[in-house]
Amino acid sequence: MRGILLAGGSGTRLLPLTTISSKQLLPIYDKPLVYYPLSVLMLAGMREILVITNSSHLDAFRALLGDGSHLGLDLRYAVQDEPRGIAEALVIGREFAGDEDVCLILGDNIFYGQGLPATLHRAAREVDGCTVFGYPVSDPERYGVAVLDAGGELVDIVEKPADPPSNIAVTGLYMYSNDALAYAEKISPSARGELEISDVNRLLVQEGRSRIVQLGRGNAWLDAGTHDSLMEASQYVQVLQKRQGMQIACLEETAFRMGFIGMDQLRELADRLTTGSVYGRHVRALARV
Ligand code: G1P
Repeated sequence: MRGILLAGGSGTRLLPLTTISSKQLLPIYDKPLVYYPLSVLMLAGMREILVITNSSHLDAFRALLGDGSHLGLDLRYAVQDEPRGIAEALVIGREFAGDEDVCLILGDNIFYGQGLPATLHRAAREVDGCTVFGYPVSDPERYGVAVLDAGGELVDIVEKPADPPSNIAVTGLYMYSNDALAYAEKISPSARGELEISDVNRLLVQEGRSRIVQLGRGNAWLDAGTHDSLMEASQYVQVLQKRQGMQIACLEETAFRMGFIGMDQLRELADRLTTGSVYGRHVRALARV
């Protein structure tokens, strides 16, 4: 399975913050937002990852993440200049995917929870068509919303319904078997002019090839699309990190714990960080330098 991280969009809801910066490069407490979804792909075991951004921010992403080799990753980049929708990421990424299945994650989605890696590994092994991840929220009208039957099976998805059929939001994390990528080319733009990922998923639901994995209450799912959610996500990370003395979405640590890099490489990364930040001290302690 290969990863696609969609970090495009113009971030208009976050102006003026996004006048010169990509939304996904804004800070969530002590690190750029993109670290969080990238670490999720890494925890799911993915090393080949396509980062899709718009051309004006491409250099900044490259400066931050490079080719990923320092983290044991193979990062590639592609451009989405017009906001033509999430589903276009599957079209842009089709060649990159080759014969492999794909995990798509939105660059402003933050997932955190102890059981998450195991849940993602299991889902990746079992994907046939599409797998979406559901999460209960108090404001489902802001999201794609799952319609479930009495047995909890996915029977439909409605995008931002005025009258939500359930409180289960469809999060910005999706897995597709390779043949399902072609479905992104079958849909037409919605009223807001975008290729909606929910429309791709609905086609697969109609064929009985879509399933939902519920992220239970032990998990956190946060998005960072508004000033308030950006602030709330930062506070969440701050509180947990300070309380537990650990780091969320520390890429160096994730790469090391996943076995993508060894101790020598971790030491090199630690040498580049100073003791001036908690993040730096954390990596240096892990590398025992
Ligand atoms: C998009 C999807 C929506 C999903 C959400 C998750 O919404 O269209 O189905 O629930 O991401 O963050 P958008 O960010 O385009 O409003």
